Amino acid sequence: MTSLPRRQTLTRLGAGAAGLLLPAAPLLAQTTVTTPSLDVPYVPTPQEVVERMLQMAKVGKNDVLFDLGCGDGRIVVTAAKSHGARGTGIDLDSERIGEARKNAQQAGVADKVSFKVADLFETDVSAASVVTLYLLPNVNTRLRPQLWKQLKVGSRVVSHAFDMGPEWPPEKTESVEGRTIYYWTIKQAHKKAAKA
Ligand SMILES: C[S@@+](CC[C@H](N)C(=O)[O-])C[C@H]1O[C@@H](n2cnc3c(N)ncnc32)[C@H](O)[C@@H]1O
Repeated sequence: MTSLPRRQTLTRLGAGAAGLLLPAAPLLAQTTVTTPSLDVPYVPTPQEVVERMLQMAKVGKNDVLFDLGCGDGRIVVTAAKSHGARGTGIDLDSERIGEARKNAQQAGVADKVSFKVADLFETDVSAASVVTLYLLPNVNTRLRPQLWKQLKVGSRVVSHAFDMGPEWPPEKTESVEGRTIYYWTIKQAHKKAAKA
């Protein structure tokens, strides 16, 4: 599968463009704005679905949950507030990470969670006991080898709406609010396959 460019650069003329009727080119200031090229657009998971995802994974106080593409942080914040877990949210969009930090503060769980602007494909998830996803089918498929390689045996993976393709069938599925939730656990066989 062809990988998408990680970042897209917009080059635009700055305030000096007011002088563009003049031949004095040096007056034109050029600024470069870098915006992240997202693999998945932002669509939040409804709170009822968040609760069910966390119940399905039996998230508790000993868990470390990573939400890859965390949006406004609702899954990480709920895991900390309602289940006592620690958590990390990763998102390429700094605006989302700002919202997530604010939401964690408001929920009183800022000491249990952290949020980072980063690419999920460049994130080490080995510290996670639970990984949550709401991405897209092709993004899940690209992520699978990383999960098999980095997660410990017994770690749980829960995905809202999308499965992992034929190479990793889910162990359980549930429906809530017309949405499907998929559940997997990491087995020794996955670790072996990741090494091969
Ligand atoms: C469908 S939203 C899910 C948000 C949240 N997990 C939830 O369920 O409410 C997907 C999120 O992934 C983020 N995203 C897209 N591509 C990414 C990438 N390569 N690395 C990290 N985050 C990414 C988007 O900015 C967006 O916030």
